[in-house]
Amino acid sequence: MSEHKTTTFSSKIGLIMAAAGSAVGLGNIWKFPYIAGENGGGAFLIVYLICVALFGLPLIMTEFLIGKRSGKSAYGAFQTLNGNKRWNWISWLCMLTAFLIMGFYFVVTGWCFSYLSEAVVHVFSGLDTEALSAHFVEVSSNMPRMVVFSIIPVVLTAAVLWFDVNKGIERLSKILMPLLLMMMLMMAGRVLMLDGSNIGMQFFFRFDFLKITPTVVMEAMGQCFFSLSIGMGALITYGAYMPKTQNVTATSIQVIVLDTMVALMAGVIVFPAVFAFGFNPAEGPQLVFVVLPAIFEQMSFSWFSSVLFFALLCIAALTSTISLMEVAVAFVSEASGGKLNRHKSVLIVSGVVVVLCVLCVLQPRLFDYFDEATACVLMPLGALSMSLFVGWALPKNGEKGVIHADKGIKRWFRKIYIFMLRWIVPAAIIVIFLNSLGLI
Ligand code: PHE
Repeated sequence: MSEHKTTTFSSKIGLIMAAAGSAVGLGNIWKFPYIAGENGGGAFLIVYLICVALFGLPLIMTEFLIGKRSGKSAYGAFQTLNGNKRWNWISWLCMLTAFLIMGFYFVVTGWCFSYLSEAVVHVFSGLDTEALSAHFVEVSSNMPRMVVFSIIPVVLTAAVLWFDVNKGIERLSKILMPLLLMMMLMMAGRVLMLDGSNIGMQFFFRFDFLKITPTVVMEAMGQCFFSLSIGMGALITYGAYMPKTQNVTATSIQVIVLDTMVALMAGVIVFPAVFAFGFNPAEGPQLVFVVLPAIFEQMSFSWFSSVLFFALLCIAALTSTISLMEVAVAFVSEASGGKLNRHKSVLIVSGVVVVLCVLCVLQPRLFDYFDEATACVLMPLGALSMSLFVGWALPKNGEKGVIHADKGIKRWFRKIYIFMLRWIVPAAIIVIFLNSLGLI
């Protein structure tokens, strides 16, 4: 284990903010609106919320408990709890997922940094709908620029990890998360006053049963895992840093509520604006990058609002990339048996990530592939494996049972939790997989 094994967050709220910082990110503000837009709006929303209700609590709790009980990151946790190496492949799965997500996530973070720099110099003022779409294409296909802008967040993330985990992440998240929420509330208020915004609200909130297809269900499950950072070990690491007295259930619920609120708010900002300005809701990954600048043009203090918002978006992305990179860094330093210290591991991981980012910039098909494969295949697989590990492999009430990591869990709730983890969660994931493959 890295030298951080015994570090804990200095406060409970610090851990909640850091875990929420991992969850709340581009997944909520960039990905949620575009996936919802491509998958029928309201139909997607309802399936998404069902997935959050079904998977969110048992799986976030599981990752926290694995980390808290073992005191280890995703690398050492399974072996420590199980006493043998039989389940260690889950650690490898987590690391693979972390690298693939980082490959495309840093590119999108790069778009955010690029937009921030342009907001500062007022590039968007006066651009109409078409010009904004054309602008995105121009910026994102400018390879040298995109390579540079993707490397900036890699360096910033590496810098935070280079120093101590609780100092960097905790301080940042405690101040900036609430600021982001306030800013989004103001934007939602402005957008809802636009003419035609009600069409967007209908698109987002009107539930049409006929629009639910196996693809919609699969995408909603993937988005749920991606947005909550479930199924690749990020929350195991934070569980290991959790103060011993922290209540796992309450913390998990707080993270879910915050994350879902931000996703809903992103929808309430983006869709009314999409229809009011005449964009296409199924525009794809560029959706928020064309819609947001158009919204800022309508707001008072447009320069200030757009700079502040893109700055907060960059920071929300960074609090997620920190947790992503931490999985890989802890993995590399532990897997080397202590030969590679934290600093060396940070350098190695950043080097690999830069290569992956460059590949994603040069080859947009790879970008889409990483995006799709991680959310819809690897993260559900990771979650499935973890639920089987805790539900079946570890004796439920024995010394090794992770539930003992939290004395605060009530007896009746324990039973429900274990039942969900043994039966409902694995069955639901398997059924959704088979259904999307057309096998049932
Ligand atoms: N949950 C993050 C987001 O919504 C992405 C993420 C996935 C972060 C997995 C860490 C681990 O942006």
